[in-house]
Amino acid sequence: MQEDMKKNADLHCVCDDPSCLKKRFLACMASLEALCTELEGIADSLPDRFDSQLGLATAQRLLGTIKKAHDFEESTLYPALVEKAGHPPEFLAVIERLKYEHWGDEDFAGEVFHQIRQFAAHGTPETAERLSWTLRGLFENMRRHIEFEREFLLPLSRACQ
Ligand SMILES: [Fe+2]
Repeated sequence: MQEDMKKNADLHCVCDDPSCLKKRFLACMASLEALCTELEGIADSLPDRFDSQLGLATAQRLLGTIKKAHDFEESTLYPALVEKAGHPPEFLAVIERLKYEHWGDEDFAGEVFHQIRQFAAHGTPETAERLSWTLRGLFENMRRHIEFEREFLLPLSRACQ
């Protein structure tokens, strides 16, 4: 019970500072998690319940949402945490891996964008299966990455401005 309360407190920030790193990191993760939920909804809707308008709207926002989150992490969060940790090589290696995963997810997102547009224009059962596979690949990768960052980086973002 006490462990649950501690974990819950770690997932929220109650300070008043709008520039608080933890608050911005939580917002960043929340935006990516919402995107994953949308992508999963599209994958689950294939092929018969696919809503073209909804799919295209998600495709349109996809790369922008991901890049905004990655930009925050790479230009603000990671440098602050590296500084705070004192630049140990093991930590720098983890940060490099996370950046590499960002690059992979952005590449994957570009493919999802094209496949959603293609399917909305002239989808077939075969392309539905391919789109479903690509969507699941992207949101499963992103969820794994977010979970790692939550476990590993979120505790470090406390009291770090
Ligand atoms: Fe990340």
